[in-house]
Amino acid sequence: MNNCYRFRSASVDLLKYIDSPEVWIVSYIRTRGEYGKGYASAVLRKACEDADREGVCLLLSVAPDEECVMSEQQLADWYARYGFQSVDSEDQACKSWMLRVATMDANKIDKPSLVEIPS
Ligand SMILES: CC(C)(COP(=O)(O)OP(=O)(O)OC[C@H]1O[C@@H](n2cnc3c(N)ncnc32)[C@H](O)[C@@H]1OP(=O)(O)O)[C@@H](O)C(=O)NCCC(=O)NCCS
Repeated sequence: MNNCYRFRSASVDLLKYIDSPEVWIVSYIRTRGEYGKGYASAVLRKACEDADREGVCLLLSVAPDEECVMSEQQLADWYARYGFQSVDSEDQACKSWMLRVATMDANKIDKPSLVEIPS
């Protein structure tokens, strides 16, 4: 995994969260100016491909900027198409979190219960 993936004006920043099983947080995904041209999709796809190859679990919070042209629901639907699933939790603070388990070697990663959501 890389800490940053870039394509044209889009970037995805990631931070390694826990070592075993390996979980990375998608800390920020953004495109500067040129929305709707598939740039963010290209970088997200690349990050997901690397996560699958390396058996890495990805975690993100659906939190659109005030300038974001997409609603929280549109973002959640988009992330879901890349395999992210809402974290099932009673805790309201966790409601916006989505987890993506690597499609390869997914068995070595337990489901969300092991992931402590950062405050
Ligand atoms: C979210 C963001 C990164 C998307 O960047 P982008 O380069 O426009 O994304 P893409 O062109 O790859 O499109 C991604 C998806 O969103 C959809 N989309 C893009 N613009 C949209 C709009 N205005 N309304 C509805 N859907 C839209 C696309 O159709 C695409 O879905 P698809 O893959 O099913 O076709 C961009 O809006 C952004 O930088 N927002 C501000 C930062 C932010 O809030 N980040 C999210 C933090 S959780």
